[in-house]
Amino acid sequence: MSFFPLTDKWIPNELLVRDQQLNVLLENQKKEFSANYWICGDKGLGKTLTAKLFTCIVDGSLILNCTSQSFKDSVKTFALTHGIVPKTTESAVTTIMQIINKTQCKKPILFIDDVDKLKEYFKRDFTVYLHDLYDRMLDSYDAFSIHIITTLPFNQMEKHLSPPAVSRLRFKPLTFPRYSKDEILALLKQRLDYINSVQIQEDALKLIGDKISRIGGDFRKALEITRNALIDNKLTTETVENAWKTEKETFWKNQMLELPYHEALILACIIQETLTLKDNVTKPPYLPVSWKQVKNSYIKHCQMLAIPPHREKMQYYWLEQLWLQRWIDKFTLSTKHEWNYTHERGLFIRLLEKLENLVEPIKAIDWTKTW
Ligand SMILES: Nc1ncnc2c1ncn2[C@@H]1O[C@H](COP(=O)(O)OP(=O)(O)OP(=O)(O)O)[C@@H](O)[C@H]1O
Ligand SMILES: [Mg+2]
Repeated sequence: MSFFPLTDKWIPNELLVRDQQLNVLLENQKKEFSANYWICGDKGLGKTLTAKLFTCIVDGSLILNCTSQSFKDSVKTFALTHGIVPKTTESAVTTIMQIINKTQCKKPILFIDDVDKLKEYFKRDFTVYLHDLYDRMLDSYDAFSIHIITTLPFNQMEKHLSPPAVSRLRFKPLTFPRYSKDEILALLKQRLDYINSVQIQEDALKLIGDKISRIGGDFRKALEITRNALIDNKLTTETVENAWKTEKETFWKNQMLELPYHEALILACIIQETLTLKDNVTKPPYLPVSWKQVKNSYIKHCQMLAIPPHREKMQYYWLEQLWLQRWIDKFTLSTKHEWNYTHERGLFIRLLEKLENLVEPIKAIDWTKTW
């Protein structure tokens, strides 16, 4: 049994839900002076797919994928996939122009996808290349478009592009809204229609739609859950729940792995300390734990793991980061001893994220290796 229609590589014959965005791009193409679009929306909302389908329909349209942190390296990969080996001394813009000229199209359209991957280089290299590219296109073509695909909202564009790039390209926004429950259901059905002899419970599909729409509508994730929940060619609410549980654990584990090691370790200590206080509280708001206790626990864990602990100032810095990222809340309270109340005040921390989401992931992380 092939689950190919449930993978990222499968391209539908008919584009559902995003037909409106595709039409905006197609209509724009027909105009004498077509606009440049800032195509934005969260992950997994069909931005790349829409651009791919556009390139299938319109001659002379290309997608430059930012596959690396550097724009120059991404252009190199782009060139190689188009059968061009760029010279080492050549500017990235010259390479792009060569590829565009090769299409021999009078009105080229270039999509630059995944610009978020450029990170550090985003502001510096990319913005310079972008307006340089625009000027070169202007010299060579009467009409053309450069569309940017990103998760960065339109109103934040100016933070990332230099004023000359913004004023030259004059982007228009094309937003990809989050998929609703029903839209996810329709998109899944479209793909499942291409898979024979599987038993699908309608409720199981609805459950996927419901769960995914509540975390932002990432359809890539919906496909992953569907693939993992298809067990013995059956998709039931039970298999969906199981696949979801595994997915959720991986999600929270990855969230923690994205934090710097010592920040994650301090968070793990806060989780553990909260857990020991948990007895009488099962749901947030949890009882606060003292920073003193957390610091002791952190030092103890570092010793156990044979990892040199960070200095106290740094420990507090990590705590501040956790607070800024809304993992925890912190406040001062008067400290209470078992045998007495004192006037001494101390820092207390309250975990904001649900314990049930965090307990399994901290067990699943290999703390012996720093990252
Ligand atoms: N309207 C749709 N119809 C069919 N498949 C879709 C649709 N929207 C998304 N998908 C599928 O979901 C997956 C993710 O879509 P896509 O890669 O286009 O997302 P994206 O918006 O570019 O996300 P990212 O920002 O992470 O790059 C792909 O497998 C794609 O085929
Ligand atoms: Mg994409």
